[in-house]
Amino acid sequence: MGRSNPYTADRFSRRAKAEGYAARSVYKLQEMDRRHSLLRPGDRVLDLGCHPGSWLKYAADRVGRRGRVIGVDLEPTPAAAANVRTVAADVFALEPESLGPDEFDVVLSDMAPSTIGHAFTDAARSAALAERALELALRLLKPGGRFVAKIFLGEGEARLRDLVRGHFGRVKFAKPTAVRRRSREVYLIALDRRGREGAEGEKGEK
Ligand SMILES: C[S@@+](CC[C@H](N)C(=O)[O-])C[C@H]1O[C@@H](n2cnc3c(N)ncnc32)[C@H](O)[C@@H]1O
Repeated sequence: MGRSNPYTADRFSRRAKAEGYAARSVYKLQEMDRRHSLLRPGDRVLDLGCHPGSWLKYAADRVGRRGRVIGVDLEPTPAAAANVRTVAADVFALEPESLGPDEFDVVLSDMAPSTIGHAFTDAARSAALAERALELALRLLKPGGRFVAKIFLGEGEARLRDLVRGHFGRVKFAKPTAVRRRSREVYLIALDRRGREGAEGEKGEK
């Protein structure tokens, strides 16, 4: 690998390896979690796009033995701990009921499409994944719940913000330090899911 290759091992990759995480992306979640208290002991967490499993392992540690983490990915992913279950599935085909009867405290999506290097197409595919993650989050989150979704900058993030508005108390975008400087990815962070009654009332808003 040449020295100009942006994917050459950097400090986050080296740290992830040393700390036993499957991917450097764990430090994106860690930074957002530290800033926004996303994950709490006893939480039930849904991790969409969980392969190879660094967010799974981090979330499993944070929620502890009383918590539960379910990971979903196209790729089969080993369950990182006793409080983790993984499902190999395409989120577009996923039946929310198949994840069990209980609602979630947190829905995370680090899903990314296979990129083709065409910025518009890649951003559109990323937006479709983020919107699907939101659709699942709105079905599955408890009132007060938290939602995080990766999206590539393009047209999609403004639309995603519009779709989220009214359903959560606080919404913002973040670019954690571990996101590579040249990357177009950002994370939507939506906190304090409003209760169903509030959300129903807001459907006709705008
Ligand atoms: C950047 S990786 C996630 C890394 C993971 N958060 C970690 O820390 O180990 C993005 C993942 O999204 C998954 N993905 C993309 N499209 C998907 C879909 N339609 N359904 C489920 N997973 C999908 C990919 O298979 C890939 O594993």
